[in-house]
Amino acid sequence: MIEARNLTLSLGRPPARVDILRGLDLAVSAGESVALLGPSGSGKSSLMAVLSGLERPSGGSIHVAGLDFAAMDEDALAVARRGRIGIVLQAFHLLPTMTALENVAVPLELAGEPDAFARAEAELASVGLGHRTGHYPAQLSGGEQQRVAIARALAPRPALLFADEPTGNLDHATGVAIMDLLFSRHREAGTTLFVITHDPSLAARCGRVVSLEDGRIVSDRRGA
Ligand SMILES: Nc1ncnc2c1ncn2[C@@H]1O[C@H](COP(=O)(O)OP(=O)(O)OP(=O)(O)O)[C@@H](O)[C@H]1O
Ligand SMILES: [Mg+2]
Repeated sequence: MIEARNLTLSLGRPPARVDILRGLDLAVSAGESVALLGPSGSGKSSLMAVLSGLERPSGGSIHVAGLDFAAMDEDALAVARRGRIGIVLQAFHLLPTMTALENVAVPLELAGEPDAFARAEAELASVGLGHRTGHYPAQLSGGEQQRVAIARALAPRPALLFADEPTGNLDHATGVAIMDLLFSRHREAGTTLFVITHDPSLAARCGRVVSLEDGRIVSDRRGA
């Protein structure tokens, strides 16, 4: 599902140029669940951006679902992601002028889903926000916005779901409920999960734990 070789990412212009990913190899099979750990600044979010097609690498090769991401321009990457790759970012990036329901439904419509609004309602209910569908992001708490972002990412039933600290803004019980939802999709639909987390109990639920330090993979363990 994911095949990265000697992946590098450097951002900014000299003298402020930063080497963020420093030659990284990673292969993830369809249906795996992978936790990505590492200190703040180690490059976790950057790696997720490259693997999910949000950012183009500076060097190396990256294939996702058989597509050569390094050879694609931004427009082609956007088309490649649609319906196939779900992404929950560390900052949720909800559209402020749209209600929770519209934030989930509009991308579904763009992906050609005929029952977009009904599906969006159901996804919001599944993250416990059935009573907040008409609210705008500014009227929602951080944890509620987080859950809208998760519903939006899950709604198109992507084959591959990336989530950057999906439970970071949630209380313990809500966090566990959201992880149960992600893992039930993983089990039932075979969704490949790639989750950045600082939470050891969440990492322990993943079949594989990859640790990053200073832009390099320092350990890659299979467990549960
Ligand atoms: N656009 C950019 N230009 C220059 N440097 C950047 C840019 N984006 C990120 N960085 C740097 O790249 C490094 C890795 O950042 P990244 O966000 O991937 O870390 P992270 O492991 O996700 O950290 P955290 O746990 O704090 O979210 C950091 O040192 C950061 O300052
Ligand atoms: Mg990060």
